[in-house]
Amino acid sequence: MKIIMLGAPGAGKGTQAIRLAEELGLPHISTGDIFRYNIKNNTELGQKAKAYMDKGQLVPDELTVDLLLDRVAKEDCENGYILDGYPRTIPQAEVLDKALAEKNEKIDYAVNIAVPDENIINRMGGRRTCTNCGETYHIVYNAPKVEGICDRCGAPLIQREDDKPETVASRLNVYHEMTEPLENYYKESGVYVEVDGTQTMDEVFASILALLKD
Ligand code: AP5
Ligand code: MG
Repeated sequence: MKIIMLGAPGAGKGTQAIRLAEELGLPHISTGDIFRYNIKNNTELGQKAKAYMDKGQLVPDELTVDLLLDRVAKEDCENGYILDGYPRTIPQAEVLDKALAEKNEKIDYAVNIAVPDENIINRMGGRRTCTNCGETYHIVYNAPKVEGICDRCGAPLIQREDDKPETVASRLNVYHEMTEPLENYYKESGVYVEVDGTQTMDEVFASILALLKD
């Protein structure tokens, strides 16, 4: 099964994608995590991506598309995958659809986690992310057992650089302008489903599973 997670920054794409990947036994592919890994390791791609990410802008399609196509061509993607943070523009979606069509394949679901902008700012301020495995926490809604330490792998948690309020505002603007039109794109191809992302994490997860099983 091939699933795309849609939603604003902070809507809970990563939180739900990790759970879904475990539940369905599929790889979780986050372009944001791939860029952050490259930034941490100071690769050429990382240096280029950082300049955009720090400002809350999208990394250009030419740096993103091939990276994603290479990743989904890997063996662990044979039975499908959960995409988190890709596509973010109509051209990115078109490139993916074209590559899939060449293999007679298609996206099964585009799951939009709907959360109003007002809720987003609050979530971002409290988010903490594992430096090693990418697991996401929230200091109030999903606190780690030991402050500052990942429950899953024991590595330190950090606050993401792009979670400062002014950067979040620009990420939200970019989302509305560039990414939100994907809702109609996937409605037209008949794979769009939506869940209320203001519910608790467990409720959001249950809502997604219910839609996938229908
Ligand atoms: P990316 O890493 O994808 O960031 P994003 O889309 O801005 O989304 P986030 O990771 O911030 O939020 P999320 O929806 O995953 O929410 P989370 O589960 O963490 O991309 C970062 C940057 O990389 C982009 O700005 C861009 O520059 C670049 N980039 C990446 N992909 C790209 C592409 N394809 N093209 C171009 N550029 C690209 O949850 C947020 C917080 O809320 C957490 O603290 C969590 O614990 C909490 N939370 C989650 N669910 C709930 C709930 N139900 N109730 C209460 N709290 C909750
Ligand atoms: Mg994320």
